[in-house]
Amino acid sequence: MARFPKDFLWGGATSAAQIEGGRCEDGKGLSHLDYVYYRGPKTPCNFMVTENLEKARREEDVLNFPNRRGIDFYHRYKEDIALLAEMGFKSFRMSISWTRLFPTGLEETPDPKGVEFYHNVFRELHKHNIEPLVTMIHYELPITFVDRYNGWYSAEIIPYCMKYLKFIIDEYKDEVKYWLTFNEINMVTAVPWLGGGILLDRDRPLPPPQFRGSLRFPPETSRAMDRFSHQALHHQFIASAMIVKYAHETAPQCLIGNMFNLHHLYPETPSPADAYRAHEETEFNMFFCDVMAKGYYPAWIKSYYRKNGIEIKWYENYEEILAQGKVDFISLSYYLSSVVTADPERQEKVGSFIRGLKNPYIADSEFGWQIDPTALRISLNELRDRFNLPIYIVENGLGAFEKPDENGRIHDDYRIAYLRAHIEAIAEAIEDGVNVIGYTPWGCIDLVSCSLVSMSKRYGFIYVDADDEGNGTYDRSRKDSFYWYKKVIATNGEDLD
Ligand code: BG6
Repeated sequence: MARFPKDFLWGGATSAAQIEGGRCEDGKGLSHLDYVYYRGPKTPCNFMVTENLEKARREEDVLNFPNRRGIDFYHRYKEDIALLAEMGFKSFRMSISWTRLFPTGLEETPDPKGVEFYHNVFRELHKHNIEPLVTMIHYELPITFVDRYNGWYSAEIIPYCMKYLKFIIDEYKDEVKYWLTFNEINMVTAVPWLGGGILLDRDRPLPPPQFRGSLRFPPETSRAMDRFSHQALHHQFIASAMIVKYAHETAPQCLIGNMFNLHHLYPETPSPADAYRAHEETEFNMFFCDVMAKGYYPAWIKSYYRKNGIEIKWYENYEEILAQGKVDFISLSYYLSSVVTADPERQEKVGSFIRGLKNPYIADSEFGWQIDPTALRISLNELRDRFNLPIYIVENGLGAFEKPDENGRIHDDYRIAYLRAHIEAIAEAIEDGVNVIGYTPWGCIDLVSCSLVSMSKRYGFIYVDADDEGNGTYDRSRKDSFYWYKKVIATNGEDLD
């Protein structure tokens, strides 16, 4: 019996800021991601300090901004889509750049060239029978809103955002069936600059970076700061629910999903204290889905806010808005798991944004991300039980440093092994009764890394000849995983060898 449903959406995922390039071309404006600069191969995460923005502006002419170049998808999309089609893609995840349509976010009408660009991309995808899966906001925020409103911290951003979101639904609803509202919505509480364009030192000093950058609850010492990020999160929940309701009313053929970073946790020991911490952190991870899929804030988070002095300015009628804007499916990124201890003194960094402990039973990627397909199977089962909604796995994959050999080939058997194990886990979850509708591994074509802001951390089936400084031909070539994934898709996941 076939393990994957016959219309399973095999594909790959990208985002506008990480692939498009075409900076300022045809009137495109700048987003906050255009101000993140490359700081060398050893910088593990570029989103921690406010100084980034001030320096980026001061030294704009000399710094290196890889997101402004992307991989030149803006000009090469036809060639890229042809390669995806050659692999047999059924689904391609991309995002629309807000600033390509509304350069500052303040304009009343969109830029026609930007509007046309996405029509062209969707047309090209459909020509190859590839279903677009579109993220409405993949972190990107017009820089104007950072300057005017401190990003998503302010509710003033919502009407501008709704203008953009309603426009894209109205304009593209007949070409795009699957939509996601905010990419990894939980990132706004982990890395407020990345997820929300928020500068935390607007009215209080920015705490040391080690207190930020965690998908977990912050330690006691920095909890008060969470009023910034949870206020911003509230505004994103509102915008998301409003556009889901609007799409349900005006474009019933469209399906709208949330998108969160799934993070599976194990308690370090069977001690009740460790088990409780793991439970608490799991609830925190699921909270982002709870609000978007169930349509309300769970009671425990409100009591967490009360106990920690986090005063949220609730948006008018927010309960009704959330209840009316429940998503149609759950979507997630999944890269790694980690281990929880109740001991606050014993916290290490796991991956780019997570505090916790490493699991001694699990291997690391070369970036320290722990490879754990079993956790994906467990989490998929938990998500089924909690939400009973279709699940679209829209990010997963292995980042690696890669250089072509003397024949120009990349033999990425490590990537094949990683993806094979995760596809196996998904097949098992489907056999467990989980309704997984698609799988789009991250960075199906090499692109600019989000945390490293560089080209050298690569995820693709397709190699792009570009380095961190922007040197190279930008030519595309097929890695070994390209041929392997083509076979996987052709056999609908039956042949994973
Ligand atoms: C997710 C993001 O967090 O992980 C992507 O949605 C990102 O934008 C991906 O690129 C992988 O992270 P990184 O830092 O390895 O590029």
